[in-house]
Amino acid sequence: MSVTYDSPDHRNMLDRTRQGVIGQPLDRPEGALKVAGQATYAAEYRRPGCAEGVLVGATISKGRVTAIHRDSVAGMPGVLGVYASPRMLRRAAQGGAGEAPMQDVREVDFPFQPVALVVAETFEQATTAAKALRIDYEDRSADARFEASADASEPAKDPVEAGDLEAALAQAEHVLDVTYTTPCHASAALEPHAAIAEWSDGKLTLHGSLQMVAFNVKELADSVGIDAEDVRIISPYVGGGFGSKLGISHEAVAAAIAARELDRPVRVVMSRQQVFESIMRRSETTQRVRLGCDAEGRLTALAHEALVSNLPEESFSEPVTQATEFLYAGDNRRLAIDISRITRLTAGSVRAPGEAVGMQVLEGAMDELAVKLHLDPVELRKRNIPDDVPGQGTPHSSRRLVEALDAGARAFGWSHRHPLPCQRREGEWWVGMGMASAARVNILSKAEARVTLRADGSILVESDQTDIGTGSYAVLGQIAAEMLGQPIERTEVRLGDSLYPPGAGSGGSWGASSTGSAVFRACEAIRAALARKMNCSGDDLLLQDGTICCEGGEPRPVTELLEGDLVRTGSIEPGETSENFNQATYGAFFCEVAVNAFTGETRLRRMTGAFGFGRVLNAKTARSQCLGGMVWGIGSALTEELSFDSRDGHLVNHDLAEYHVPVHRDIPEMEVILLEERDAVASPLQSKGVGELGICGAAGAVANAIYNACGVRLRDFPMTPDKLLAQLPDPFMNTT
Ligand code: MOS
Repeated sequence: MSVTYDSPDHRNMLDRTRQGVIGQPLDRPEGALKVAGQATYAAEYRRPGCAEGVLVGATISKGRVTAIHRDSVAGMPGVLGVYASPRMLRRAAQGGAGEAPMQDVREVDFPFQPVALVVAETFEQATTAAKALRIDYEDRSADARFEASADASEPAKDPVEAGDLEAALAQAEHVLDVTYTTPCHASAALEPHAAIAEWSDGKLTLHGSLQMVAFNVKELADSVGIDAEDVRIISPYVGGGFGSKLGISHEAVAAAIAARELDRPVRVVMSRQQVFESIMRRSETTQRVRLGCDAEGRLTALAHEALVSNLPEESFSEPVTQATEFLYAGDNRRLAIDISRITRLTAGSVRAPGEAVGMQVLEGAMDELAVKLHLDPVELRKRNIPDDVPGQGTPHSSRRLVEALDAGARAFGWSHRHPLPCQRREGEWWVGMGMASAARVNILSKAEARVTLRADGSILVESDQTDIGTGSYAVLGQIAAEMLGQPIERTEVRLGDSLYPPGAGSGGSWGASSTGSAVFRACEAIRAALARKMNCSGDDLLLQDGTICCEGGEPRPVTELLEGDLVRTGSIEPGETSENFNQATYGAFFCEVAVNAFTGETRLRRMTGAFGFGRVLNAKTARSQCLGGMVWGIGSALTEELSFDSRDGHLVNHDLAEYHVPVHRDIPEMEVILLEERDAVASPLQSKGVGELGICGAAGAVANAIYNACGVRLRDFPMTPDKLLAQLPDPFMNTT
């Protein structure tokens, strides 16, 4: 069997197996450890003689470090050393490092960029010394540009163009031309970035909080100038990443450099403020959407053009139009992203890069078009589901958009919505309903995993795959237990250590399907070995509760066949199924909001999401991913926004007191519907990635509900009370 996934696996093996654990809403096996505080996170390892490092951020916006005055702290209690922090993988956490080799340049690219590390015996001593450290700069802040500008921008990549957009717009029955803006976002993972580095015989071991261990090993080796074989990364528990831990960053490199110099373990933990200030942001966007359609609402023209920003020379640009490419009809089209180079911390991947902010705007525009047409917004979407990718002709793999729209609308009670705004008033509150589609690209990524069927029949799964709170431990165990016919309790999963085979890592929603496919294939190899002893094919083997038989045979304990441990490694790489099909996940959001007629405060009242993402591997962890995404969407709609000082570009709201993510009180009843789906094109598991789908469009549904409630169409996220208040209708309208 080829390692690359070239033809769809229609055997649907996981529907033929008997154990019955796949898809079940099983608890995460590490869950009890986490809630009891017994799961050891990166900063919590006890290493004898561990010194404590604290990062120092630049006090200029842009320029260069000319001197670090070590003598300014040398005599302070406990201080062990001060290390220049070379421009530490500024693009760390990009998933795209390797483009810029580490250099000992002391350039300062953005305010608060870490430029030095102070190490002391205790954290308090290091913190005190870090505040006292004197650094000289060549200050070129005057050259900085702090705001993105269309006038100073360049195309981020070639636009997608098809047909004749301008002619189609000119001939269209209805035309919409709107511009929305979205602000910068922070990842705001609960666990701050942390690392403990330690050297032994020229080899480096790093306890880190990372998403992509195999890739991070290479980055770290590059950064400190040693071979990847001499680096071990251990990252079994990660308190959230959302993209911010895709690559290594300042704390890991600084800890490694200092530990080598001091010949002692060194721990570096970022403060919440340092995470906000130095870990990448999601780019702000300005998005112009033009839609042209016929009298029935069928799109003939579609343009989605975005302006995003990043530091000079960074390769990442927020791929705003990613889902617009395949979601709706409109043969005449232009999708384009321009990038403006500004002095702000690095822009990079934040949960669902592209779709998160692209979909909320596209779905706002679709709602506006539906209003123009006096057409139900659900119906408008249904009329515009294309046969293939417009302008390209690429076929879609499995797609449950219509089913999601229907199931969501039914469960939510969409038929009770008033089509016109300002029709429902409850006390001080305007009440309205809104909806949006969800869409997100699906990616299969290269992965490897090792599975052992031990002589006693128990199962061990090993991969460096991480679990960033997403359920990797649970899901990978379920796949192995299902394929090898053992209860889940007999299955052990070990993750997050570079000594294990390289999984796909956690990013782009690909972890469960990709590393899961590797686990699946390792299990297939074990089944084939067992089948040889049984004289039937691996596909016809029936394994359940520790027994084995061929179709029609008498079950016997599988241990009777095992002379020792049966160990197999499985691997997968994307192949022709990735090239020849447009693979994506789909869904629909429906929500009800109340907008205070006097204060402009918006309260989400309830929300329903229906999603199709191939086979559900674990209904509980999948549901949690969808819920988490929807909560992000609500934050994006109502509160989340990084604010930068326009004079020197520094981040103003650098903690969770000032950067407002939704809290429990903000999140009411949420309903998640998981649709039945098998996508054999996507993976041998017939599954796709769900990690990011729940955010992709969710904020649009909230914005559309705000319009339906009070008639205010804001095109500037987040939709805070100050903006709403300025446009709210007479609060006494339609009241008696
Ligand atoms: Mo994700 S933003 O690719 O971790």
